[in-house]
Amino acid sequence: MLTAAVVAADAKSTSYLRACVEQTGLIESVSEWTPSTDQYPQPGESVPDVVLLDLAGGTETCLDFSAHLRRLRPTVCIIACSPLKQPDPELLMQAMRSGVREFLAHPLDPSLLESALKRFIEEQAPGQKSVDRKLVVLMGSKGGVGTTTVAVNLGAQLARLTQKRVILLDLARPFGHVSLLLDLRARFSIRDAAGNLERLDSHFFNALLTVHEKSGLEVLAGASDPEEWHGIADSALARVVNVAQSCNDYVLTDIGCSYSFELRSVLQMARMIMLVAEADVPALWTLERHLAKMATWGIDSQKCHVVINRWHRTDEEALKAFEKRTKQPVYARLPNDFRQVSEAVNLGAPLSRNHNNPLVSNFQQLASKLAGVSLVGPEKRNTIFGLFSNTSKR
Ligand SMILES: Nc1ncnc2c1ncn2[C@@H]1O[C@H](COP(=O)(O)OP(=O)(O)O)[C@@H](O)[C@H]1O
Ligand SMILES: [Mg+2]
Repeated sequence: MLTAAVVAADAKSTSYLRACVEQTGLIESVSEWTPSTDQYPQPGESVPDVVLLDLAGGTETCLDFSAHLRRLRPTVCIIACSPLKQPDPELLMQAMRSGVREFLAHPLDPSLLESALKRFIEEQAPGQKSVDRKLVVLMGSKGGVGTTTVAVNLGAQLARLTQKRVILLDLARPFGHVSLLLDLRARFSIRDAAGNLERLDSHFFNALLTVHEKSGLEVLAGASDPEEWHGIADSALARVVNVAQSCNDYVLTDIGCSYSFELRSVLQMARMIMLVAEADVPALWTLERHLAKMATWGIDSQKCHVVINRWHRTDEEALKAFEKRTKQPVYARLPNDFRQVSEAVNLGAPLSRNHNNPLVSNFQQLASKLAGVSLVGPEKRNTIFGLFSNTSKR
């Protein structure tokens, strides 16, 4: 991950450039500067790895600023963003002499910016992983298996356990149910994020979230009208996820059970894909097909994890056969507890610790596994021994 500064003369261009770099998913922090050699970098501040420079602020001033940064840090990667589609050769030469490494036209093409940054990363540290993946995708083998229940309760337990920022993006189609399960009155939704890419930096993204006060889980609400999905490209969703990852410790997303080839980029970005299923014939049959599809899409089977919800002891025989057939171990078993779950749904709250029941304990255990934190005390003891398989692959 890289550090960056965006340099522009006005607030609108600054926020546009910030949105562009944050949407690449390759940047961990962004400073906002103006092209003033007297002011930036400020005392005690260092020149970041990458500087995105808006030449609309005055070519000469900007190129002087570029030369100034280059003197302070010769390895800095300066990317100029020009209002001219075809800059003349003289300007290009001047820019090169001032330390500009890449010249991109305004409006910025996100894929060109991403490639420029990836080239730079590869030169700096060949073969090194450039992205810090925080995304955990929750996908249902079919509707009604409990994907949203798992997403909400895992998110709430993760926030409680880690005391870090945990975001849940509701990408389920046609309707998102996360807000309903948490009794949140969200003012904004995924539509506002994906439909405003030119403004979507971390500040804008944070303003779209609704906080579930009790657990600390932050939610980007889903669609409450199927038409909200019209015109949202899946490539836009990947950029929303990048911004979410740039400003949070954990990003979960509930994608429900419907997806298309275009969502592949989001699935590939994930650190982990949790496939939620029940242990009945239709759910396991569909689960096998999802796993096969993921494989044909080039998604590493190591990051696909099967979570069996509404588990009952009598399911074990079917699960053993499934594991044998697919060579995919069951990652977690979440017991069936209809009374507690429907009580929580009716209250519009995550399952509570006070319930002190095996299902809550298994969610805590799942959260601790994700966070790499071990549980102590009663939380650990309440996990049904043997229900939570130790087959973690990472
Ligand atoms: N572990 C569980 N035990 C009992 N009932 C559950 C459990 N998990 C989910 N449910 C119930 O299953 C139904 C579907 O859950 P939901 O999370 O909306 O599924 P999905 O998002 O896959 O459509 C709901 O009525 C919910 O209360
Ligand atoms: Mg759902």
